[in-house]
Amino acid sequence: MISIKDKVFVPYITANSIQQRVAEIGAEISKDFKEDCPILIGVLNGSFIFLSDLAKNISIPVEISFVKVSSYSGTNSTGFVKNLLGLDFDLNKRSVIIVEDIIDTGLSMKHLLEMVQRENPKKIAIASLLLKPDALVHQLNVNYIGFEIPNKFVVGYGLDFDGLGRNLPELYQLK
Ligand code: IMP
Ligand code: MG
Repeated sequence: MISIKDKVFVPYITANSIQQRVAEIGAEISKDFKEDCPILIGVLNGSFIFLSDLAKNISIPVEISFVKVSSYSGTNSTGFVKNLLGLDFDLNKRSVIIVEDIIDTGLSMKHLLEMVQRENPKKIAIASLLLKPDALVHQLNVNYIGFEIPNKFVVGYGLDFDGLGRNLPELYQLK
């Protein structure tokens, strides 16, 4: 059990299980995009650890960039997405893989998809370490999912509660 500010979290997904699943997704992406030299676009801040582990498990050439959006405050979605750092990459005719830590309501991903789509890419895929199917309010086709989880707040492996917990190597769930 760990405490972050006023909340208690219990161990949820071990570092080992995460590493195993990330390796599988890396292998899949290496196969699916072998002709493509895709661009991985990590969504800051949450995806930085997943993107870093995923990239190390991809055996084909890739390019890497980041965007930054924010829709969360504390443990709740605010219902709107702020663009904090935009696209700085020419995506014209490129294959793009948007890499997220978690898809909750899907609002951020819908916003990101629209942003990438405007740049005329050849192909767009989504890789998210976590997906909360019961929280999803926007229809999305998520190509690579690490784990589907119940609609409960989680921290660790890049995900935070009020800025804290990102450095934990495993995932914890709100008690
Ligand atoms: P969405 O726009 O509702 O899909 O929310 C997506 C963003 O909210 C994610 O990229 C996370 O940054 C954050 N988020 C959603 N659920 C959680 C959670 O359980 N723990 C930590 N952050 C979360
Ligand atoms: Mg995020």
